[in-house]
Amino acid sequence: MRQKIVAGNWKMNKNSEETEDLINELIDKLPADSEATVIIAPTFVNLASAADHTEFTAIRVAAQNMHQAEGGAFTGEISADMLKSIGVDIVIIGHSERRAYFHETDALLANKVETALKHDMKVIFCFGEELKDRSTNSHFNIVEGQLRDGLFNLPANAWSNIILAYEPVWAIGTGETATPEQAQEMHEFIRETIRKQYGSIADDISILYGGSVKPDNAREIFSKPDVDGGLIGGASLKADDFVAIVNGI
Ligand code: G3P
Repeated sequence: MRQKIVAGNWKMNKNSEETEDLINELIDKLPADSEATVIIAPTFVNLASAADHTEFTAIRVAAQNMHQAEGGAFTGEISADMLKSIGVDIVIIGHSERRAYFHETDALLANKVETALKHDMKVIFCFGEELKDRSTNSHFNIVEGQLRDGLFNLPANAWSNIILAYEPVWAIGTGETATPEQAQEMHEFIRETIRKQYGSIADDISILYGGSVKPDNAREIFSKPDVDGGLIGGASLKADDFVAIVNGI
């Protein structure tokens, strides 16, 4: 059964006190009867406290990244086991900023996904084309390649723990949101691409849209048949904006 999901990717924002304050506001303002599963992804240093703070609420906590190894000499990195040990069982993998700034390849991301699934984690797998791809009409090929090289090594039963997040790079942090029609067109293509490879499980996969989702555009984007929610950056850092987006589901 496809879930409606709104996830907030806080990126490198909010110190310990600001994290506590935002979570308190979200607990106070989020609707108790929302159709959406609500996820927040604070920074690593605040994950354990965020997991404790939200333990008895409907808010789920995700990590923004993890290393593919089980442990060892990887200075500064975090393993799946460490995340599970603090009660975090959702992880964002493949965000465009990880691909761009930290040179994470599709092959490396496939490895990270396998490790996360081995630890029974849910994966929010990010992918999306750059402006140059769309302007040369190669965006469908790019997206198909990211799906194929990042996820198509998985067995069918692994997909129950995969959440997809289509994030056109040209829409991230720019205010240049994809139109609802552009989002629906690509989400439909993504679902059909999965259907060709895996059959009817494509109907059960949540495909989130990310890229300048705001309170004033969320409802129309989320109304599209193949858009199952959003992965929110900037607007997730203010409680009122994030709650307004959740209410747009
Ligand atoms: O992961 C979500 C993020 O990349 C989108 O950022 O600020 O455009 O909502 P933003």
